[in-house]
Amino acid sequence: NNGTLTGYKGSVFYFTDNPKFTQNAYQFFPEGILYVQDGKVVEAGDYNKLRAKYPNAEIVDYTGKLITPGLMDSHVHYPQMEMVGSYGEQLVQWLGKYTIPTERKLADREYADKIANLYLDELIKHGTTSAAIFATISPNSTDALFEAALKRNMRVIGGSAYMDVNTPDYACLPPNEVYDFNKTLIDRWNGRGRTNYAISPRSAYLLSPAEMEATQALLKDYPDIHIQVHLAENKESGDMVTKLFPGLKNYTEVYDHYGLMTDKTIMGHCVWLDDAEFELIVARKSSCAFLPTSNLFLGSGLFNLQRANKHRATVGMGTDYAAGTTLSMLKTMGEAYKVTQLRKAFAEDPRSVEPLDPLENYYLTTLGAARAMSIDAYVGSFESGKEADFIVLDSTSTRDLSVRAEQSEDIRDLLFAFQIIGDDRSVAHTYIMGNKMK
Ligand code: GUN
Ligand code: ZN
Repeated sequence: NNGTLTGYKGSVFYFTDNPKFTQNAYQFFPEGILYVQDGKVVEAGDYNKLRAKYPNAEIVDYTGKLITPGLMDSHVHYPQMEMVGSYGEQLVQWLGKYTIPTERKLADREYADKIANLYLDELIKHGTTSAAIFATISPNSTDALFEAALKRNMRVIGGSAYMDVNTPDYACLPPNEVYDFNKTLIDRWNGRGRTNYAISPRSAYLLSPAEMEATQALLKDYPDIHIQVHLAENKESGDMVTKLFPGLKNYTEVYDHYGLMTDKTIMGHCVWLDDAEFELIVARKSSCAFLPTSNLFLGSGLFNLQRANKHRATVGMGTDYAAGTTLSMLKTMGEAYKVTQLRKAFAEDPRSVEPLDPLENYYLTTLGAARAMSIDAYVGSFESGKEADFIVLDSTSTRDLSVRAEQSEDIRDLLFAFQIIGDDRSVAHTYIMGNKMK
């Protein structure tokens, strides 16, 4: 890859903006080519127009396949891999019964290394090239994650989730340790390779006012740092927040009151938000993560994308694995479509609910997620100069997809077919900074 100019020939597709709000928000070259050099995009476009401009490029032929930016997961818990599919509970009880005890195991560095490497290998297998990832209260789990990311040169955001109430003692971080705990990890990891640290106050129903204040103090010294939290995931956790912060109007205001809503804050779930809360998120330039398989698995609720769009909130798609049930962003898009379909069944006026357009869905999982994670300056599209994280999708990989894709009349419908019946087998190749990883 060093210095070599390589042209990846095939159908080339990427977004330049949100198709929900912008005309011609994508570029599609049915007979296209993506030129890459030194890990960066040189140019993407029509093969017959560009071939003379780059006569010396080495050609990799993916004719018949679809080349798009890598998929992105804007909210995920890598330490929970071994407990995916834990039966029978909703959020608060699920967290107490299964999640916190499982996360404790990652205090063992060897075990954390094993899970972190497995997790990132699975991401690559599923065509996910970037993610915003929660680690556990043990710094060993954070170190394991970042070391595994550096080894693969992946652009990931990660941080150690902390809390101090409604949690067993062994999983708590006392407020007076919040500052030094995070400072150590930020100084160790933020900006190394392609990684960024994210301060991760787990969820307001798990943090005391003192823990919130300590986080606010930390942010004064790191105003530019990424932040990731959970917000309004289900009703019960919302009621707990009201009890913990009786003076504040709603769940969203709690984060705002302590200065945690910046233009680098990703707020996971956002299921139970009213108009004023979406307005506040937009005013602060924070973003929402739409986590359909998790919300369905835990029975948390149905994210209201239409309301988010009404306020032009920045939304990124995510798995929330292992409350979420798949690492596949293709499958996740399929479940997001079903969530919007279900909203119609429960709507007062079903005609007011629109289906989730396959183009918008794919945007939310590529450029939209990159914007939600504040990494769109580097990844998420094939603009010249961006980092060459891309995937090659193959609609002939499975017989059901193959027979369906043959009937597709356009790129929009082909993307829908990938979303509804695609999976990791549909991802023929995954490239990280121009390096073939799958
Ligand atoms: N809220 C606080 N922690 C978690 C978590 O690990 N998963 C989910 N789904 N919600 C949470
Ligand atoms: Zn989560």
